[in-house]
Amino acid sequence: MVKIAPSVLSADFGILAEEIARVEPGADLLHVDVMDGHFVPNLTIGPLVVEAIHKRTRVPLDVHLMIQNPERYIGAFVQAGAAYLTVHAEVCPHLHRTVQQIREAGIKAGVALNPSTSLHAVEHILDQVDLILLMSVNPGFGGQTFIPFVLKKIEELARRRERLEAKPEIEVDGGIKIENCRAVAQAGATILVAGSAIFGAPDPRAAMLKMREQVN
Ligand code: DX5
Ligand code: ZN
Repeated sequence: MVKIAPSVLSADFGILAEEIARVEPGADLLHVDVMDGHFVPNLTIGPLVVEAIHKRTRVPLDVHLMIQNPERYIGAFVQAGAAYLTVHAEVCPHLHRTVQQIREAGIKAGVALNPSTSLHAVEHILDQVDLILLMSVNPGFGGQTFIPFVLKKIEELARRRERLEAKPEIEVDGGIKIENCRAVAQAGATILVAGSAIFGAPDPRAAMLKMREQVN
C-alpha cells in the first residue's frame, strides 16, 4: 500500500488545526516542511510549530528539514514530536553520523536528495536509513511542477532497494497531483507527499482519497 503524506505547507496556517483535522482520517503521515532561508530561498516553521501540530494530531509527523546544519536541531525536533526526521544530503558532510544521531534519538531517519543530486550520495547508507526522500521539484515552495527525469531516479532507487534486506521507504515530494500520482507510485515510490493537490483542493479529504484510489 502506497502511503500518502499531505504537506501542511499548502494549508491555511491561520486555521492549521482545522486544516489538519480535515485530512486526519486517512493520512498516513503528515509532512511538515522546515525551511531556513539559506538552504532554500524561503522561511517556514521551527520546532515550536511542529510541537503545536503534534499536540493536535495522532498522525505521525514526517519532518522534512530544508536547513543548513540540521544536526544542530535534531534534539529539538525529536522533542517536538517528529516521527521521521529527514535531512538533505547536500548539507551533511558527515551524513552517516547525522543519520546515526537521529536514530539514536529514537526516531526514524530520512535522507533527502534534490532533483539534480545523484543517488551516489546515499548508496553507502541505504541499508541504514528508514527513508530516502527524492525531491521532484527544487525545494523551497509548494505548487511547483513535477520534474519528469526524477521518475527514472525513483525506478533506479527502487531497483537498488529490492536488493536490500532492510527496505527504506521511497518518498517522493513535489508536484504530485491526482494526474501523475499513479506513475510516481508505479515507478516505485512508497510514500507520496502532496501539498497543493490536497490542501489547495476545495475538499482536501476528498482529494486525498482520490489520490489513494489512483495508487492502490
Ligand atoms: C517543497 C516541499 C514540499 C511541498 C510540496 O520544497 O518540500 O513538501 O509542500 O508541495 P506540492 O505538493 O504543492 O508540490
Ligand atoms: Zn517537503
